[in-house]
Parts: sequence; structure tokens; C-alpha cells
Amino acid sequence: MVREIYKNHYPKPHMPCVEPGKILKGQKALVTGANSGIGKAVALGLAKAGASVAINYVVDDGTVDRMIKEIKSHGSDAIGIKADVSKEDEVKAMYETMLKAFGTIDILVNNAGIQRDAPLDQMTLAQWEAVIGVNLTGQFLCAREAVKEFKRRGVVPEVSCAAGKIICMSSVHEVIPWAGHVNYASSKGGVMLLMKSIAQEVAPFRIRVNSIGPGAIKTPINHSAWATPEAEKELLTLIPYQRVGEPEDIARVAVWLASDYADYVTGTTIFADGGMTLYPGFATGG
Ligand code: BGC
Repeated sequence: MVREIYKNHYPKPHMPCVEPGKILKGQKALVTGANSGIGKAVALGLAKAGASVAINYVVDDGTVDRMIKEIKSHGSDAIGIKADVSKEDEVKAMYETMLKAFGTIDILVNNAGIQRDAPLDQMTLAQWEAVIGVNLTGQFLCAREAVKEFKRRGVVPEVSCAAGKIICMSSVHEVIPWAGHVNYASSKGGVMLLMKSIAQEVAPFRIRVNSIGPGAIKTPINHSAWATPEAEKELLTLIPYQRVGEPEDIARVAVWLASDYADYVTGTTIFADGGMTLYPGFATGG
């Protein structure tokens, strides 16, 4: 069986894919929720591609300083900014800090996201509001401030042919319903039309807005889904490509989407999910 062949060995892309030269040289990026998981890999990926990076976080254990050192060793600039993206005043203050430090913003990665899982009849309003607040309202607040600056500054041809790029971190759950996670799936379904509506509105200003829809990626948010061999085996039944994703799988897509290589791409979600959105059950059923 094909699954047998790859059972213990999942060839991974070579890391140099994250460093396609310095294709983001001179660009200033803000990545929200950037001190762990997908956000961390994306921040480091953008930096390796030449961008200066503002690392947004809420709770830090020293990771931010380590990231700043690593980014500086690649010759890019970095700062850490503490802010809860669901709070309007904190988002505004974050942008003030960012613009003061870097002068402008070229790339926003709306990455911050949380899960507060519960069956519907046990889900509290606080759990619902926390998830919608960070995952959806947070993306709106951060996108709004970015677009203000993109419109003010316009295109700087030596930097990029676009006036700005927004990448929304969505999920396969913008299209796949998810029992026990209605707050999360609702937030990601919302992100889909938030992204598309903003993309439509700001395209004439040469601002590109897209989403990445990760599948199961090995990060703290879904640790229990892949941490044991039994859990991983179960998870792989949902992934035709037969490996659980790594944060760098998403970083590579983000670097490309942020770069001028993707200049004609706007208003779309790129699923990086090993085929999770391909209805894997139908490979043997239906
Ligand atoms: C969720 C993960 C989950 C994955 C696939 C992501 O958006 O945050 O917890 O493993 O979707 O279901």
C-alpha cells in the first residue's frame, strides 16, 4: 500500500525554499501572533527573504528576544511589539510603534489566532467572544490600520510593485465544518469573506489581500492531534499527502504571497493542507 511506503519517512522540502534570494529586501512586515507556531516560522521566513519584521505577541517567554537576535544575524531588522489584536487601542498603539520604528509597513500577516473548543451546548459566550475577537475582529482591526498606511504611502516601485500586501491566516476550516469548534470555524469562515471583501475594495489602490488556509500543522494549538503515534495515525487519515505539516510549509507560501512573484494574485485562499480539503473519505468511499 502507498501508505506503507511513507509510513516512517516523509521527505520534506529543502529549507532553502524559504530563502529565495532576498525577494523581500527593503520591505517592512508586521506578523501578529509571531512568537510561536506558524507566526514564528512566517516571521523568520520573511526576515530571511530580506524583510524587517515586527514581531507581535501577547505572552512571551523569551522567544521574542531570541527571534530578534536570529533575524539580525540574517542582516534584517526586528522589533517585538506586545498587543492584544482584539483590542482597538492596543492595535492602534502597535501601529504607532511599528511606524515609528520602521517608517512604514509593506506586509501585514494577520496570523494571531486561538481556539477555545467546546461542544455547542457547553460553549460559553466568553469562549465564543474570545475566538471571534482575536481571529476575526483582530484581523479587521489590523487590516484597517495597514490599509490606511498603504493608501497614504502608495507604491514605491523600488520596494514592490504593490502598495501593500495583506496575508490573512485562515484555515481549512474556512470551508470544512468542524464539530466541537463552532466558534473557530465561524471565525475562519468570516475571515474568508473579510479577506475577499477587503481585496475587492482595495485592489484599485494596488493593495493585494490573500489568505493561507493551513491544514494540520505541528504547532502548540493542535499538539494533542499529533503528539502521540496513535493521534498522528488518526490525523493522517484526513491528510492524503500522508504527512502532518510543519510551520515552514506555511512560511514558504507566505514569503511567495508577499513577494512580487505573486503580484497578480489577490482575493484568493491558498490551501497548504496536504490535501485535507479534498474530501479524503471519498478516496475509498462514495
Ligand atoms: C486548527 C488545528 C487543526 C487544523 C486541521 C487548524 O486551523 O487550528 O487545530 O488541527 O486546522 O483540522
